Amino acid sequence: MKKESSVIEGTTKAVPKLGPFPTKIGREELWEIIDMWDFSPGNKEKIKAVLASDANLQGPHLFRYYNPKPSRVAAAEQAMRELIGAKHCLAVNSCTSALVAAYRALGIGAGDEVIVPAYTFFATAATVVGVNAIPVIVEVDDSLNLDPEAVERAITPRTKVIAAVHMRGAPAQMDGLLDLAKRKGLPLLEDVAQAGGGSFHGQRLGSLGTIGCFSFDYYKVVVSGEGGFLTTDDEWLYTRAQSWHDTAACWRPDRFARERREGELFAGENYRMSELEGAVALAQIRKTDAMLAGYRRAKKLIKDGIDKSPCVQFRRLTDEQGDTAICLILFLPNSEVTRKAIEALHAEGVPAGGVYDSKVRDWHIYTYWEHILDKKSVAKDGLPWSAVPEAELPKYSRDMCPRTLDLLGRSIHIEINHNYSDEDCNGIALGINKVLRRLFH
Ligand SMILES: Cc1ncc(COP(=O)(O)O)c(C=O)c1O
Repeated sequence: MKKESSVIEGTTKAVPKLGPFPTKIGREELWEIIDMWDFSPGNKEKIKAVLASDANLQGPHLFRYYNPKPSRVAAAEQAMRELIGAKHCLAVNSCTSALVAAYRALGIGAGDEVIVPAYTFFATAATVVGVNAIPVIVEVDDSLNLDPEAVERAITPRTKVIAAVHMRGAPAQMDGLLDLAKRKGLPLLEDVAQAGGGSFHGQRLGSLGTIGCFSFDYYKVVVSGEGGFLTTDDEWLYTRAQSWHDTAACWRPDRFARERREGELFAGENYRMSELEGAVALAQIRKTDAMLAGYRRAKKLIKDGIDKSPCVQFRRLTDEQGDTAICLILFLPNSEVTRKAIEALHAEGVPAGGVYDSKVRDWHIYTYWEHILDKKSVAKDGLPWSAVPEAELPKYSRDMCPRTLDLLGRSIHIEINHNYSDEDCNGIALGINKVLRRLFH
């Protein structure tokens, strides 16, 4: 081999060439992933043999930026943009992160108020506190989503965002909320964590408001184990959300350059999605409509099979076609009969559960958000509560949203699976009819 000369005259270059080295992530890591799937023992041995036989196997670069191969996270963002119909999409590591990034992008901070529903997962309200703002907790109506009239009554000069949640798969009353947000000049944030793929009058949830926040944690409609997405048509909000989600600013055309516009760069956090989650999310996004068709078919079969009765009311759907149909919710006349019905439904094998029981703690009901109701703070500064004169803070109490508690206490939640067979659906409807007939006739 010809020796390369060094700049030091008369010597050869000390390190003529480094590598190639095996990639950091190789066959052992791939095996750990494959082993999570339930292959038969015979097939596992075959896969192991294939892995061992490929002597030059190169592993992936599981970081989206500076990736020598096309990024799966970027592909998932593109697929979400197309599915949701939003101009911009940012992948993050959870919906909680998406919510914080959204509030940060909107510039929400100390002294601001954000309206949230009394029935939502705690994260919708906790992230408001996380950005030092004050959650204002508002009643839901018989759609189990924010009541636009109650929202209007709760608006104060401090209100900076309305956070609408599409709970348990069904769209919130977006016409009323959009109209209100427009009249009041407020951004409308959509928390789509529980309704990924759903729509409102033909437009996908997450594309109607100012910003949409999605969860891909395992218990959602479309999943990647952990993960989330933020959607918006507003390029500036997207840029700021991106800055917050990656304080390393890896994404910028010139990473270490000064900010291109005032407000582009600030001290953010790290909410980046890994390529592993990106790959799973991409496959799931492509399957969304097929899964939704399965949920909707099963729900329709069950709903159509339930006998009509004046004692039983279905949850109001603001747009039945846009419902993801992940569950069916019925209201009975009172909480006592609801408890009895749920017990009897279990005995019939129906996948039914209650939504609110005053004796069962649950982070989806505001009454259990003691850390907010009791105005707790993570630090000595007492934020967010210390930013506002005490007399002007919201008056929280366990009974401040009686309509929400009444509706939830009378709710029966029937789980829908997109793989239910006709027989499963007919059996569930039969079980419901048997129980309701016994209770009401
Ligand atoms: C309505 C709602 N918002 C936000 C979240 C938070 O999602 P993640 O687990 O992805 O942070 C959830 C999760 O349960 C949720 O149901």
